[in-house]
Amino acid sequence: MITIGMAYYPEQWPRELWEEDAARMEALGVKVVRFAEFAWSRLEPRDGQFDFGWLDEAIEIFARHGMKIILGTPTNCGPLWLYKNHPETLQWGRDGKPTDTGIRGHRCIVSPVFRVYAGRIVEKMAERYAGRPEIYAWQIDNELENSHCTCPACRQAFRDWLRERYGTVEALNAAWGNAVWSGEVSDWSEIDPLLAPDCMPDWHNPAFMLDFERFGASRTTDYVKFQRDIIKRFDPSAVVTTNACFPAHMPDFHQEFAGLDVAAYDNYPPIRPPEDPEELYSNGFALDFVRGFKRKNYWILEQLAGPGGCWSPFCPTTEPGQLAGYALQAVAHGADLLAFFRWRSALSGAEMMGHGLLDHDNRENRRFYEIRDLVRRLGDIPDLDRTAVHSDVAILYSADQEFALKDQRQSGNFAYWTQLRLFQEACAGLGINTDVIHETESLDGYKVVVVPTHHIIEPTLAARLEDFASRGGTVVLTNRSGVKDKTGNCVFGEPLPTVFRKLCGCVVEEYDPIGKFKQRVSATKGESYAVTGWCDLVKPEGAEVWARYEGRFYSGTAAVTRNGFGAGKAYYVGTVGEKAMYRTLMTEIFREQSVPMLTTLPRGVEVTTRTGEGGTYRFFFNNRGTGCHFPLGGETVSLRPFEAAIRTGEGKWV
Ligand code: GLA
Ligand code: ZN
Repeated sequence: MITIGMAYYPEQWPRELWEEDAARMEALGVKVVRFAEFAWSRLEPRDGQFDFGWLDEAIEIFARHGMKIILGTPTNCGPLWLYKNHPETLQWGRDGKPTDTGIRGHRCIVSPVFRVYAGRIVEKMAERYAGRPEIYAWQIDNELENSHCTCPACRQAFRDWLRERYGTVEALNAAWGNAVWSGEVSDWSEIDPLLAPDCMPDWHNPAFMLDFERFGASRTTDYVKFQRDIIKRFDPSAVVTTNACFPAHMPDFHQEFAGLDVAAYDNYPPIRPPEDPEELYSNGFALDFVRGFKRKNYWILEQLAGPGGCWSPFCPTTEPGQLAGYALQAVAHGADLLAFFRWRSALSGAEMMGHGLLDHDNRENRRFYEIRDLVRRLGDIPDLDRTAVHSDVAILYSADQEFALKDQRQSGNFAYWTQLRLFQEACAGLGINTDVIHETESLDGYKVVVVPTHHIIEPTLAARLEDFASRGGTVVLTNRSGVKDKTGNCVFGEPLPTVFRKLCGCVVEEYDPIGKFKQRVSATKGESYAVTGWCDLVKPEGAEVWARYEGRFYSGTAAVTRNGFGAGKAYYVGTVGEKAMYRTLMTEIFREQSVPMLTTLPRGVEVTTRTGEGGTYRFFFNNRGTGCHFPLGGETVSLRPFEAAIRTGEGKWV
């Protein structure tokens, strides 16, 4: 059974409401409730004075109504007394100045003093609640980012981390290529990760930036492990996770979740589908990505339950069916737990205009009925959680690529995430599941492996891909691959795509980073596609041409190639095309690989399949604001706006 959950903040509501809210949630079918993630000032109102009475009472009430608790550690928001008494617990910005208190997330997760206080509150909670039957799981902190703090403790920790990695400043200078711009370091104390507000990240040495990101990721991972270890000390079988989102500074999720029991994500798909059909908008990629953190089903700890409006102007409201459709999309991609955010909109605080399931008026409304129907519907499919998403296609990702390509932009209209998403969307539109996995993971069991913009070379990858292709698999590589070594410096003396040259059977003679400008390519079968962002002028060395440029001085030059390699193939996509190009390309690849496709799905309809002991369930999700009809086998399927229809392996719609 898919577990239904709800975010609830007892500390924000009068006690008289708790019982009533619990009873209403019980009637709705809520089985887990998420408490306490921001409640530090209520749990420890003064330094060393703890008050768990209210939380005990809330747990008791909700447990009595059949709910278990996901307990959040409250460390995202330190209490104000902590910052006043210990200003060294504050986070500092890249400008080298402490942030303001009074909002959230302003703590430094590296600060040894903060660790003492955070460790103490987590320990007190774990001591009291870990192992109790009411506790379902633990959520560490909230929506962790890569730490970019520049407080004195962080600067020192960064230098220590570098010293550990490089040993001497001479080795560091050589690795980073610090001869450029007199960047050579004569003493560790000269290294500072500061970034003035008017300074672009791209003005810094990319190798330095890459290490700063890796360091930040290691701090975030260490912080998660620090809290996890405390909880596990009191209950080794506790289920511990944290709720991921995709912030400006992305952590290394694979590293972060390695020590956690389940991957979890806060799912807020965009409410208004874009007017430009070329704009990527489906949340499907994000869901596949999260499933890849642990290569198994995941949880949604915050699922959209009403239009946002938290720290910005209000969002448009959702269309009928849209909330349920998005929730089912999350299930379609492997969610086993759906916790909605939040039960009721707050009456006070910065988020008062971010809508919960209930509005301030506390009445049942259109959204409430929609989620109630969804919960009933999921209740009728009790075996769903005994299924999982199995895929013939893997898309490879790593935080290194993310860091390197974000900190040194390659050209306009070209971004790492877009590269990944274009392939995922093409697959979903053909009814094909995709896994998004870390680039070091095993490729066994896949038929197609897509490696978009493998920029920083993972040393074992070329050999693993060659092996995969030689045994009959299809590899797809794209532009800006094989450019840099692990340190973040360019590879010398080899044409691109360097280590992938043999596999792809081609070289990049020259490139044209066209940015926002458009160019066209024509595929050898006759279709023509708009491309943008980047154009590699590809010279085949044994590969055949799949598409050529039309226009500019390199008209007729190869843009996309296909190379036979052992029993398999390697495609090289030297440019960034419109969506239709990826659809055609992937259709051809799936035909070659005999992967069955659904070719009649209209634009915006995504099909994902869960299979396992519990049966087979195919989700047909109409990810758009208009209804549609399409043929499927001998029948016609009709979907309302944002409807997710579910079909069993026996062909029954449920
Ligand atoms: C995030 C946070 C929540 C809340 C929501 C609002 O996901 O985790 O606490 O602020 O956004 O949409
Ligand atoms: Zn810090």
